[in-house]
Amino acid sequence: MTAMIRIESVSFTYPGGVRALDGVSLEVPRGCFMSLMGANGSGKSTLLKHINGLLLPEAGRVSVAGIAVGKDSFEEVNRRVGFVFQDPNDQIFAPTAREDIGYGPVNLGLPPEEVERRVEEAAAQVGIGELLDRPIHHLSYGQKKRLSIAGVLAMKPDCLVLDEPTASLDPMGEHRLMRILHGLNRNGMTVVMATHDVDLVPLYSQRVCLLRAGRVAVEGELKQVFADRELIERCRLRLPRIASLFEQLPGITELPLTVGMARRRLERLMEEDGPLLAAARTLLETEGESH
Ligand SMILES: Nc1ncnc2c1ncn2[C@@H]1O[C@H](COP(=O)(O)OP(=O)(O)O)[C@@H](O)[C@H]1O
Ligand SMILES: [Mg+2]
Repeated sequence: MTAMIRIESVSFTYPGGVRALDGVSLEVPRGCFMSLMGANGSGKSTLLKHINGLLLPEAGRVSVAGIAVGKDSFEEVNRRVGFVFQDPNDQIFAPTAREDIGYGPVNLGLPPEEVERRVEEAAAQVGIGELLDRPIHHLSYGQKKRLSIAGVLAMKPDCLVLDEPTASLDPMGEHRLMRILHGLNRNGMTVVMATHDVDLVPLYSQRVCLLRAGRVAVEGELKQVFADRELIERCRLRLPRIASLFEQLPGITELPLTVGMARRRLERLMEEDGPLLAAARTLLETEGESH
C-alpha cells in the first residue's frame, strides 16, 4: 500500500489554548476515497488544514506524495493538494468562472493555450462548461461549489481534500456533487472528505476515519468502522438510516449500509428464509426508489 497522505503523531493547539489535535496518525492510500467523520469540533477541519500546510503541527509530521509538508514546501504541496474550502465564497475571488479557474494555471506560468485547455477541461469535469463567462455573483451556491472544485482541478493535483463539501447543498446538488467526486475517484484521484453525513459516506467512500476530541477513534474499511455501533454513538454520530431500518428485522447480524447493500441482502433472505419474505417485501417497497 502506497500512502498518498501520511500523518504521523500530529498534535496542534490553537493560540487560545484549544488542543484541536492530539497525536493523530493516519494514512490515506493512493487512489482511496476516505471520509473523515466526527462531530462538530472533533478536529476535522484542523486536520485537513495540516494536509496542505495551512496549519503546521506543533508535534508530528505530515507528508503528501512523499513530500514533507512544511514552510519550504508550501507551494509544491499546494499544487499537489487540491484543497476545497467548506464555503466556496472563501475560495472564489475572480469576476468570472473562467478567470477564477485560470488563476492557478496562470500563476504556474503556463502558456495561454495550456491555461485555456485546463480551464475548459476542469469546467467540463464539474459540469460548469456553460457558465464560464457568467459573472460569479450570478452563480448559485451549488455552481460556486463546483467552480471551487474546478479551480483546484485545473492545478492537476494528486489528491482532493474537501471540507464538508455537501454542507448547505440541496439534495439534488448534494447528489450531483458526490457523483462528480465519485467519478474523479474512479479515475484515480485520491479523495479525502470531511463530513458528518452518515448516509452519504457508505455510498462513496472505501475507508472511514472517525475523529473524537482530536484523536482517531477508529480508522478502517467502511464495514469495519460502521460495525461498532457503540463507538459510532460515542462519537456523536449514528448508523445510516438504512442500517437502522434493518435492525428491526430479526436475524440480521451484519447491517447493510446502503440501499444497494440492503437490496442484495433482502434478495438473499428471500431465497433462504421463507418466513422473512413478507417483512423483506415490505422493506423493499418502502425503500424501492432510493439509490
Ligand atoms: N481558529 C481557531 N481558534 C481557536 N480554536 C479553534 C479555531 N478553529 C477551531 N478551533 C477549535 O478547535 C477544535 C476543533 O475544531 P475543528 O477542527 O474546526 O473541528 P470540526 O471541523 O470537526 O468541526 C474545536 O474545539 C474548535 O472550537
Ligand atoms: Mg469543520
